[in-house]
Amino acid sequence: MKKYTLTFFLLTVIIMLAACGDDSSSGGSSGDGDGVEEMTLKFAHVVAENTPKHQGALAMKEYIEAESDGKIELEIYPNSSLFGDQDEYQNLAANNIQFIAPDLTKFVGNNPQFNVPALPFLFEDDAAAIAFWDGEKGQEILTSLTDDGVLGLSMWPNGGKQITNNKRAIDSPADFEGLKFRTQGGQVLESLYSELGAGSESIPFGELYTALDQGVVDGQENTFSNIESKKFDEVQSHMTVMNHTRVDYAVFTNTEFWESMNDATREIVEAGLAEGTRVAREEAIKLNEEAYEIIKERGMVEIIELTPEQIEEFRSALEPVYEEYEEAIGADVIEAARTASEQ
Ligand code: LMR
Repeated sequence: MKKYTLTFFLLTVIIMLAACGDDSSSGGSSGDGDGVEEMTLKFAHVVAENTPKHQGALAMKEYIEAESDGKIELEIYPNSSLFGDQDEYQNLAANNIQFIAPDLTKFVGNNPQFNVPALPFLFEDDAAAIAFWDGEKGQEILTSLTDDGVLGLSMWPNGGKQITNNKRAIDSPADFEGLKFRTQGGQVLESLYSELGAGSESIPFGELYTALDQGVVDGQENTFSNIESKKFDEVQSHMTVMNHTRVDYAVFTNTEFWESMNDATREIVEAGLAEGTRVAREEAIKLNEEAYEIIKERGMVEIIELTPEQIEEFRSALEPVYEEYEEAIGADVIEAARTASEQ
């Protein structure tokens, strides 16, 4: 009898332990019955709060926390407050953070195809850039970092870049001669400036205001929203509205973390990401338009709006960049981006 009681007791313990084990997966512990894991996730980025990227991240946070009844927390670290351009990728790969959304041109060292947003005058507008990154070629590029344990999930746009500098008004290719510009990084941006007779240097976004202020570089290129929210116009005297290249992001995650979530948890996180994507895509145009108005009102920079003929001059001056990078980026990729603009 004693033997049967002991066997029954042991079986009960084993079943209870197995039930507990079922509910939890790495990175989180199980909640109360709905299977959603308790976890704290971190999303680090380098820009200010009043930007499309931060608004997208906020929408993602609100959705995930509400739908999981607070079991999943999403902490957002803007303004390079946790990690900056120099170290966010390594920390994502190490699963110290679960989400980043860098400017795609910052990944050209991993895969030269991330140069696409830097190809001059390639995308007509946000819609074209979105269509490309959501399409087959774009998805191939976003998922090309899995060897590092990093996975691109969803493209978030910011917009066309404008040129600012503190030396002179720029309205023709010759005006670039001898100036030095900060870039986000990458071979295409470097070549683009050298085609125009200018120098360039890659500097982390978090150090850019000081670099402009101290004259380390004469100018930079960025979206209205980044220029306004970081007050680069305070330390620059001229801004040329060019829209020649773009700032586009994707949300990247750590592959191991992503695959470790159970179904109930993943469903909420994926839906939260979709909500963040919707908001980021919706806010990008609006926030850039608003930022342009604020820059005009502040009146710190002389604003140069180019005529279609002047844009054409830049377009042909920068054409050689395509020949130079067609092989590294892929003619098929460039073609897919052009097709996206035609739709
Ligand atoms: C920059 O480094 O200038 C931008 O790409 C930063 C950002 O994330 O928008």
